[in-house]
Amino acid sequence: MRATVDRTGTDSHGRAAKIQVRRIKKGDLAKAREVLELAFSDWYERQMGSRPRQVFGGAQYVHHRWLMEPWGCFVAEEDGTKIVGTALAAAWGGIGIAGPVAVLTNYQNQGIGQQLLRAMDEFFEENKTALQGAVTYPTSPKHLYLYHQLGYHAKGLALVMSRPVDRRNGAAPVMPAAAAAAVKVKGTPFTARRFSSLEEAKKKATIARIHRITNAVCRGLDLGKEIEIVDGLALGDTLLLERGRDLLGFAIYHAPGVSEAPVGSLYVKFLALDSAHKRTEHLEQFLVALEELASDLGLARVLVPVYLRYHAAYSTLVRCGYQVDITMVRMQRGKQEDYEDPTHLVLDDWR
Ligand SMILES: CC(C)(COP(=O)(O)OP(=O)(O)OC[C@H]1O[C@@H](n2cnc3c(N)ncnc32)[C@H](O)[C@@H]1OP(=O)(O)O)[C@@H](O)C(=O)NCCC(=O)NCCS
Repeated sequence: MRATVDRTGTDSHGRAAKIQVRRIKKGDLAKAREVLELAFSDWYERQMGSRPRQVFGGAQYVHHRWLMEPWGCFVAEEDGTKIVGTALAAAWGGIGIAGPVAVLTNYQNQGIGQQLLRAMDEFFEENKTALQGAVTYPTSPKHLYLYHQLGYHAKGLALVMSRPVDRRNGAAPVMPAAAAAAVKVKGTPFTARRFSSLEEAKKKATIARIHRITNAVCRGLDLGKEIEIVDGLALGDTLLLERGRDLLGFAIYHAPGVSEAPVGSLYVKFLALDSAHKRTEHLEQFLVALEELASDLGLARVLVPVYLRYHAAYSTLVRCGYQVDITMVRMQRGKQEDYEDPTHLVLDDWR
């Protein structure tokens, strides 16, 4: 007697299983996270020959992304019972960020990934994003093909870089700078203020000022939702670099916990300096402020993203001793596809 083999994509009678892509509901969150982590663990294991002990270094994506952008988060479900894939998208104003996306290994290469990407496309259309982007693995023919199929173009490399934080002579971590609302940035006329310390009424006005900075980087780019979710869930904070009453720049960062920061690292998700103040010394000073903050929080590293088309920003990171941890390629599609100015001092993560 032949054993019955369960094939993915077919049920026990050999009928094609029905895969439906729908929006994530609250009850799906744990399962969606599990699918994401399993699919990526399998992928890393195939690439590197060993399974990561903790996928993404302990960083998490699903829960807060769903709270921030519930209409942009999807699952692929088999026969209405089993979640086999997930995709998280966000609209940063006029820029749609696609990903992460994952399909359980046994369900791959059956078109489910493309179904999820198409669902994200509908979300981007609903939000009228002019430009869509993602990052993927530059050496994987499958990943490049997948995004190419949906009209994305491979652009420059997108790196995640990091630098160990100088230990203060082995002293136990102190918290004052992290706890203080605003601190002087040593040797500069700047102050670093935490967004969370602002009165509620001032928060809206600050988000509007930040929007002016990002709008000058790319028309329509708006990080307001990211700032609000980091503040609302205390995933980290947004550091405001100020001189007197001027806002020179901002950095949205996550600290480890239930956030996108890996264990032991302060993770900068988005940093931009006002184009009127785009001097590389200012970026250096801003990085020092973030490193001090990490040290005050007892963290060992600062992690930053950088897109190589922002050449001045990348050169500054290299000069400051940052080294490459992850190399990906940015995929872009839509209007203003070549909007980047190499002199802009922007560190942005599209993962
Ligand atoms: C990337 C991922 C989401 C794709 O999901 P998927 O369901 O396998 O994707 P699909 O089946 O819709 O599409 C894959 C396509 O790549 C093609 N493909 C597979 N291997 C390929 C290769 N070596 N070279 C070129 N194309 C390849 C498949 O034939 C298919 O195209 P087709 O439908 O035109 O035949 C899935 O592989 C995954 O979860 N990987 C691990 C996590 C990950 O890498 N996420 C994405 C990070 S950007």
